[in-house]
Amino acid sequence: MLRAEHLAFAYGAETQTYDFSFEAEAGTVTAVSGASGSGKSTLLDLLAGFLAPESGTLTLDGADLVPLSPETRPLSLLLQSDNLFDHLTARENVALGLPKGMDRTEGHSRVEAVLARMGLEGLADQAATLSGGQKQRVALARTLLRDRAVLLLDEPFSALDDETRKTIRALVGELTASEGWHTILVSHHEDDIVALATRHYRLEKGRLTPA
Ligand SMILES: Nc1ncnc2c1ncn2[C@@H]1O[C@H](COP(=O)(O)OP(=O)(O)O)[C@@H](O)[C@H]1O
Ligand SMILES: [Mg+2]
Repeated sequence: MLRAEHLAFAYGAETQTYDFSFEAEAGTVTAVSGASGSGKSTLLDLLAGFLAPESGTLTLDGADLVPLSPETRPLSLLLQSDNLFDHLTARENVALGLPKGMDRTEGHSRVEAVLARMGLEGLADQAATLSGGQKQRVALARTLLRDRAVLLLDEPFSALDDETRKTIRALVGELTASEGWHTILVSHHEDDIVALATRHYRLEKGRLTPA
């Protein structure tokens, strides 16, 4: 269980104060919706450790995440776009998810296994020519390789056409269940929330309320 209790933050003295409490279970998608500017990305930045809370707790299976720096937190982040390095091939982008110092042969076989599982073998040597949907698939492949317990998604399907959106969305649902991820989906698309989420919170006036 990923749990926040009164995780408090403000950008400045005269601005909105945030007080976030929520629970997200392993193997499920927890959705957060809210108007533009309501603080959805701020919430993800707090979870990822890019922002430090003023008070409150954030735990994963009881372990405190707050003292951990972003790169040591057990999570991956997927944005609407720009998740990949365009000068690297799909294979190279996926390989960035390998743990540091892993044996080359072992690393190579893990990358190939993930590319195959995600249906990316034919695209592995392409770089900037990948479509938006293909790029999100590559980014998900890298996430799969990283194998972190928490997946943070900030409007990850917004740049995709309807058909591709449904495919990538289904993939997120399948991977979340099979890998036991705690997936937090920020979206203002009711469709995505209905299709994927077990739990849904609305973000308003700095607070999360079960929807
Ligand atoms: N670095 C920052 N400094 C000050 N205010 C910020 C900063 N980043 C975002 N904000 C403000 O905080 C509010 C919430 O932003 P954000 O979390 O990006 O909302 P959302 O993702 O829901 O659109 C907005 O009013 C935004 O202008
Ligand atoms: Mg945002």
